[in-house]
Amino acid sequence: MKTIGVLTSGGDSQGMNNAIRAVVRTALANGIRVMGIKKGYTGLITGEIEEMTATSVSDILNRGGTFLQTARCPEFKEEAGILKAVETCKKFGIDGIAVIGGDGSFRGARDLSLHGIPCVAMPGTIDNDIVCSDYTIGFDTAVNVVIDMVDRLRDTCMSHDRCSVVQIMGKNAGWVTLESSIATGATCTLVPEVKFDFHKDVIGRIEQGKKMGKNHFIVLVSEGIFFDVKSNVNYTYVKEKGLNSAEKFAKMIQQTTGVESRETILGHVQRGGSPTYRDRVVATEMGHYAAELLYKGISNRVVVMKDNKIIDIDILEALQMEKPFDIKRYDMANQINI
Ligand code: ADP
Ligand code: F6P
Repeated sequence: MKTIGVLTSGGDSQGMNNAIRAVVRTALANGIRVMGIKKGYTGLITGEIEEMTATSVSDILNRGGTFLQTARCPEFKEEAGILKAVETCKKFGIDGIAVIGGDGSFRGARDLSLHGIPCVAMPGTIDNDIVCSDYTIGFDTAVNVVIDMVDRLRDTCMSHDRCSVVQIMGKNAGWVTLESSIATGATCTLVPEVKFDFHKDVIGRIEQGKKMGKNHFIVLVSEGIFFDVKSNVNYTYVKEKGLNSAEKFAKMIQQTTGVESRETILGHVQRGGSPTYRDRVVATEMGHYAAELLYKGISNRVVVMKDNKIIDIDILEALQMEKPFDIKRYDMANQINI
């Protein structure tokens, strides 16, 4: 391989810049040219591509977001879009591509590989929902943002004897919510993966806390939960984006317990900010590993973390794996947090 491309795709995450930097500098150090592809797969269709030098990636390792920018590109899901991308690769002499993104982006990488452009993908998403990897770039920073925000909310909740219901990102996955809950001591932790009974698991826990002398409460709700407010006591969960569930939960909690409740939807602040030590280092290791695979001519792989080691697995295999939710960890949070 003489020339490789690098792109970030899907939702951005903190640490993507570190991964790009590692890919670029590792490839250049080994005599490989690198092309920076802008806005994910969109750049492969529009040809927004420029050659990277070692200094193109200077001063980005402390910045969130992705300096190559990212996009969701529906056109790339169609055969015609992929064929255009293959043409662009030929035009720019790109022999292989390092892709940083979520599982949607992995599917794109798989399709490109199947069309003769070898790819190596790295998991970049705050959601930590990539089934084949224990860790995804951005997760640690996002959880730290949530912790900071919830600590702030706890201060004001305490002053007013209130309940704070905080809606947390993660799409259909509750990993950001669970880890944040362990770290902040939330009274209730509601994630899409675990069915719950509103009266027992939300109201019951708040009432029990009140009996123990607590006067302020934190409830963390994953955005992927749907709360059926019409049936009043009922709950359900669906594997799709919930609709403003924090607001519904806050209303119900206030009506049922009498504890004044406020909702906070953290939103995209969770995707910003300077990457933590963990994200900087993991992203650098993964980027280095991915570039090494490409220049050694190994492709159609996903770089993942397994048992604290960076390894690579087949991209088709990776997309078929399942990642069970950590119920033991969830139970631990509920036992310790009151
Ligand atoms: P993420 O990578 O964070 O999961 P998306 O699911 O939005 O984010 O996927 C990012 C991009 O990857 C999409 O906009 C599209 O260009 C590409 N992609 C997603 N799914 C597929 C698919 N099934 N086949 C080909 N490309 C896909
Ligand atoms: O996948 C990352 C993520 O931030 C999810 O947690 C969230 O559901 C989604 O992206 C938001 O997408 P967008 O940035 O398109 O609003």
